[in-house]
Amino acid sequence: MQNHLTRRGFIGRAAAGSVALTWLGAGRAPTVFAAEASKPALLGGTPVHRGGWPPWPTWRESWEPPIIEVLRSGRWYRGDGEHVAEFETRYAQLLGAKRCLATASGTTALLVSLHVMDVDAGDEVITSPFTFIATYNAILINKALPVFADTDPATLTMDPASIESRITERTRAILPVHIYGLPCDMDPINAIARQHKLAVIEDACQAWLAEYKGKKCGVLGDLGCFSFQNSKHIPSGEGGAVTGDSDELLDRCQAFHNCGRPFGNLKGQGYFTRGSNYRMQQFQAVLLMQQFDKLVRETAIRRENADYLTAQLSQIPGIRPARLPENSRGVWHLYPFAYDGQQFNGLSKNKFIQALSAEGIPCSNGYHEQYNDGLLDEAIASRGFKRLFSAARLKAYRESFRELKGNAQVCANTVAVFQSLLLAERSNVAHIVEAIQKIHANSAALAKPA
Ligand SMILES: Cc1ncc(COP(=O)(O)O)c(C=O)c1O
Repeated sequence: MQNHLTRRGFIGRAAAGSVALTWLGAGRAPTVFAAEASKPALLGGTPVHRGGWPPWPTWRESWEPPIIEVLRSGRWYRGDGEHVAEFETRYAQLLGAKRCLATASGTTALLVSLHVMDVDAGDEVITSPFTFIATYNAILINKALPVFADTDPATLTMDPASIESRITERTRAILPVHIYGLPCDMDPINAIARQHKLAVIEDACQAWLAEYKGKKCGVLGDLGCFSFQNSKHIPSGEGGAVTGDSDELLDRCQAFHNCGRPFGNLKGQGYFTRGSNYRMQQFQAVLLMQQFDKLVRETAIRRENADYLTAQLSQIPGIRPARLPENSRGVWHLYPFAYDGQQFNGLSKNKFIQALSAEGIPCSNGYHEQYNDGLLDEAIASRGFKRLFSAARLKAYRESFRELKGNAQVCANTVAVFQSLLLAERSNVAHIVEAIQKIHANSAALAKPA
């Protein structure tokens, strides 16, 4: 059975696992016989890692007073306080963006951006299939077609070479996703967009502080979108942001996310545009502002440990860490690697994940081939999509998923370790390497049918 453990479910499980593992570790004799230590935990041996892992999310008592102050003020909504606006100024500064708009979530950041970049009913948007499902949904909710570029198995992001063949006269935008905080190769993507006069909206929902050629993700295209949902490196339960360098675009984003009320240079025109309510609350902004320093500090730690893992894991046959584009820095929302069962005596990926989890290393599958799940069939069978697109286009669209060979490979091969493990002491991070080495050494026994 496929292990479709989701990233969000995985956090809960990783946290629960750390409690169980701590308890197991505490109950065992400190001396472990070599034979037991080398026997895979899945076959009854001792787990390589028997302590817990850093919990996620975490908070500090010092964060409480400003939150209580907002609570007691009764000024909770954006229009009645200064915190959201202050957050926007400071988040823009952190990223080197001219402007930022805070939103209720990453999904609403994407909805705002797609609307403002004039993605309309019947348009097409080229995006990555290897992403959280919100990327698909934001395009579909605009009654546009998410057309999938293929995934580069080396980088796990959109393969720029697969974009041009997918452009039609309906294409309005390219929506690259910096998945797991791994920057997309933006130069060729931007060049294609310029040549075909397409907007570029970055899904940077997992890429806070990731960098490409000296600039932060989220300021590499026309607009960038971020999420601050609970699992994220800077969480506020729910929350999001749009970033960019154009005052005109950001004024439009502001207006659209606030029921179409005029803003900035658009002032004085009454309800000049459509809009919705995608506003962030004051509580969320206060919580987020407390975490800027923590985000910077923890990003550096995750990077150091990810670099260590990449150097070590590259030496194990059958394990291939993700490659970053030249001159870029990831932030590792998950630490992914490609797993080749052939190098592990035919041990299936699911069994490898079970074995690694049993060694005390919580891990999960990457995204699966979500375009086969039914949501796109449901969308293209709807009255609206049938009115907007020809039957021939929808048929060709549905059939095009079979061409996503790189993505199919990535979905089949990827194993991912949750980000909070990268915040552990180096001696514990080394357990990830040791556990995989142990599984490799014992793969013949593990691969045997039970
Ligand atoms: C890549 C990606 N896009 C979009 C989203 C949507 O963000 P949110 O959950 O804040 O709506 C997420 C959040 O998980 C994400 O990871």
